[in-house]
Amino acid sequence: MRYLTVALTKGRLAKKTMELFERAGIFCEEMKDPDSRKLIFVNEEHGLRFFLAKGPDVPTYVEYGAADIGIVGKDTILEEGRRMYEVLDLGFGKCRMCVCGPESAQEYLQHQELIRVATKYPNIARDYFYNRKHQTVEIIKLNGSIELAPIVGLSEVIVDIVETGSTLRENGLTVLEEVCPLSARMVVNQVSMKMEQERIGQIINDLKTALKEA
Ligand code: PRP
Repeated sequence: MRYLTVALTKGRLAKKTMELFERAGIFCEEMKDPDSRKLIFVNEEHGLRFFLAKGPDVPTYVEYGAADIGIVGKDTILEEGRRMYEVLDLGFGKCRMCVCGPESAQEYLQHQELIRVATKYPNIARDYFYNRKHQTVEIIKLNGSIELAPIVGLSEVIVDIVETGSTLRENGLTVLEEVCPLSARMVVNQVSMKMEQERIGQIINDLKTALKEA
């Protein structure tokens, strides 16, 4: 039996994912060693292989079939636009993609002005402003600490993830519009879904049961 390979998003999401797999009876003790620099882990009993990757790379591994299954945030799925099946909402990592800025930026949105939008998610931002709001904007791609942009005058608004809202509050910014809700999702390679229907179906069912019991 060949190993089914699961790509996990490094960090908090991977920890939560392994907790869920444990509740479904799938363990991987090796992964818990905090001093380990190992990237790939095997569970012989279930014929599974787990590896840790950067979030935006998870859909890439899954589309190419280097991973049969991936666990990744909906934000990354939308941004990367890869061909794969999204099969399950894991319910954790809940947050929202929002347009944020100072209160004073509200009028730029109302009047459809040509504003600058800073974001780590240029595809999501473009889709939202162009296809849903029909507003022409200039998208500026950043790689982190997006909240800085409107404070220092790089952009009028940002499109970013809001979880507790404390980053916004502490920087005098607010949610102006909601783009979409987010959470962790399970994704599957399109060929694997056909070739390994039974095993992958079993994993989906076991995870669904574990989610219900929680
Ligand atoms: C994310 C996001 C916000 C913050 C939202 O950043 O970009 O900055 O978390 O969380 P809150 O609403 O609970 O304050 P992250 O910490 O992932 O780092 P980044 O700035 O490098 O994107």
